[in-house]
Formats: sequence, structure tokens, C-alpha cells
Amino acid sequence: MWACYKRRGNNGMMENNKSICVALNTKSYNIIIGHTFGLENFLRDKNISSFFIVSDCNVFRNYGRALINSLSKYGLTITKSIIMPGEKSKSFSVLEKLCRDAAAAELDRKSLVVALGGGVVGDIAGLMAAIYLRGIRLLQVPTSLLAMVDSSVGGKTAINIPEGKNLVGAFHQPLGVVINIETLKTLPHREYLSGLAEIIKYGVIKDSLFFDFVAKNRSNLLRRDTSALEKVILRACKIKAEVVSSDEKESGLRQILNFGHTFGHAVESIGKYQKWLHGEAVSIGMAFAAELSAITGKGNKESAEMIRNVLTSYKLPVSLNKRKYKKMWKSFRTKINTDKKTIGGKPRFVLFTEIGTVKFGCEVSEDAMKEAFERILK
Ligand SMILES: NC(=O)c1ccc[n+]([C@@H]2O[C@H](COP(=O)([O-])OP(=O)(O)OC[C@H]3O[C@@H](n4cnc5c(N)ncnc54)[C@H](O)[C@@H]3O)[C@@H](O)[C@H]2O)c1
Ligand SMILES: [Zn+2]
Repeated sequence: MWACYKRRGNNGMMENNKSICVALNTKSYNIIIGHTFGLENFLRDKNISSFFIVSDCNVFRNYGRALINSLSKYGLTITKSIIMPGEKSKSFSVLEKLCRDAAAAELDRKSLVVALGGGVVGDIAGLMAAIYLRGIRLLQVPTSLLAMVDSSVGGKTAINIPEGKNLVGAFHQPLGVVINIETLKTLPHREYLSGLAEIIKYGVIKDSLFFDFVAKNRSNLLRRDTSALEKVILRACKIKAEVVSSDEKESGLRQILNFGHTFGHAVESIGKYQKWLHGEAVSIGMAFAAELSAITGKGNKESAEMIRNVLTSYKLPVSLNKRKYKKMWKSFRTKINTDKKTIGGKPRFVLFTEIGTVKFGCEVSEDAMKEAFERILK
């Protein structure tokens, strides 16, 4: 049964919260999934001296007060630094601002950075926590669907430079991840769909029953039904936790999480990180990878079709405009090479063999890549 989780009664969290352990050699932590910020007792024995909230102004406007109320029960100093929403904030200048705000707030080695927001906030607050005073603790409080099921778990933090996205970063595992599902009520629809793309990815890479569940529960998920959402967030986090536990620094299995991302990152880059949201680009990337699986004979045509159909049923893009992009293969091909998994100019793809099973590190021919590109032009 894929909906496997344990209830926690005795950890001081509310009884109806669910918890998943990300088991790591040195610093295991929990992902708590519930309906409040419910932080009171979770942090009780952590010897924290002060809180430093990092958020963006959209999210802070909606949830800053509730988070502060939850933290204020500790009687510790709470300071904050609020950044502008959007990918542009993942920059050295914003990172510097966060560090200087942290210094002004007199953070010490026992302070806790609380990242309240989507993946942008989580990534930059995480990097700041990784480097400030050579590393202080971090609590992830993700508020976008993508951040809940992906970026808040696993310890990857980063900012962008003009030469590329996420090129400057560090691994810095959080003290915990606290997911308040209720925050999804205010998430813009397009952002919500973008998060669903990553959820569909988890089904393809690890769990065909989960893939079927997501396919069959389209109307519940599209109207953000709480019970369906809780199930998929739980399962997606469980898969991510398992994969991260077995390969913390992405030297092997963790690469499967990049299904659809090799081409997806190229799409994001060609769109200058403005035309497509991350999940949308990954959706196109998954359609590309599905074609590549079929072309190379690793996966069958029917499964490739199923992946495309499910993505389309969630109104996610699976193609590129033929007229606009047909002459641009070379640009896409160049961008593919900037993928971190490219070695000696040869990109490595994650390809499915059947839904629920993928292989990573697959080298494919130039012709196969070009054909997959041509197949997704519509
Ligand atoms: N570290 C990782 O492992 C990892 C994995 C995947 C993606 N990422 C990164 O995550 C980023 C994308 O994250 P994202 O999709 O969450 O984007 P985001 O952080 O830009 O958030 C999307 C938008 O939604 C708003 N928002 C977030 N939560 C809201 C809520 N509950 N109510 C109303 N508005 C809300 C934000 O203000 C923002 O405008 C990218 O920079 C990507 O590189 C990192
Ligand atoms: Zn992703």
C-alpha cells in the first residue's frame, strides 16, 4: 500500500499530524505534515537562542503573523528578513542582505533560521544558514506545493549566477520540515499545477500505484481536496526521503529525482526563467525523456503516452511550439550540456523502463536526442 506513514502521538505535535523521517548518517530529521504551523513543542528540546524568519513578501503577508504567534510561545527573540518574491531573489546581493540582517539581529550559533515560503525562500535561506557563522540551523516551512514535495527536503540550497541556475550552493540539511497544508489555499493556480508536475514525477520514478492514484484523482487534486492532497504530499515526501536517505549527496540513486530535469533545465534557461515555471519546464522535460525512453527502447511507447496524458490532464505543457522552436535544437543541445550530470560533453539522462522504474546515468546518441526533440514539437 503506497499510503504508508506513521502517526505520532507522543512527540508533542498535534495527533493528526503525520511524520516522515529522513534518515541520514549524522543528522536525521522529520518532515511533519499537518494543518497548522504547530511548532510549539517540536522545537522544545532543541536549545535554540533566537529565531530569524526569512520569507518573501507574498508569503509573509499571508502567514507571517501565524508563524510568529506559533514561535512566540518560546519567549525568544524573533527577527526577520523579507525578500522580494521570484527567482531573481536567488542572488548574491540578496544573500548578502540576509547575512547582514542576520548580523544586525545578532544571531549566534544557537539561532534558528526559519524559511517560510516557496523554493526560492528555502534555497536562499538555506544557503545563508549554511554559511552564516560557518553554518547555523535551519527549519524549512514550505508554503508552495513544489517546496513541500521537493525543495524543502534533501538539503540542497543554492543561488543563481548569470552563467547558470543553482550554480552556487551547499548541502545543508534542515533541523526539520514543517508542512502546513492549509497554506496551499492561497497558492496561485499556476504555481499549484507546477508542483503537481513534480508529484507526477515521483510516480514515474518510483511508484506506479501512486502514478495511478494521481491520474485517477485529478478532479480532487485540481480542487485541492485536503484528503487527496495530504495523501500525495505524504507519499511524495516519503519517496524523496527514501531516495535522499540512500544517497545524501547525489552520487548515485538520488539522480533519479532529476527525471525530466535535464531537458527541463534547458527549457527553463531558453525561456530565461520567465516563460515557464520550474514544474512546467520539468513537465516538458518529462515528455522529452519519455520519448527518449521509447526511442532508445528502454521504455515502451504506451507508457510514454500515459505519462504525457496524465501531464496534459493536469493542464501541464508537454510540447514546444513548432514554429517558434524548430530551428533551435542547437541552442537546446548546448543548454543540455550545462546540466550537472554531463560528463565530458556527454549528458546523462534518467529514463523510465516502465512506469515506477527508471534508470539513471543513461548515455544516448545525438540522433536520439534530436528525434525526441522533434517529437515534442507541436
Ligand atoms: N533545493 C532543491 O532541492 C530544489 C528542488 C526543486 C526546486 N528548487 C528551487 O525552487 C524554486 C522554485 O520554488 P517555487 O516553485 O516554490 O517558487 P517560489 O518560491 O518562487 O514561489 C512561487 C510563488 O508563489 C508564492 N507563494 C508561495 N507560497 C505561497 C502561498 N502559500 N500562498 C500564496 N503565494 C505563495 C511566492 O511568493 C512566489 O511568488 C526554484 O528556484 C528552484 O530552483 C530547489
Ligand atoms: Zn524539480
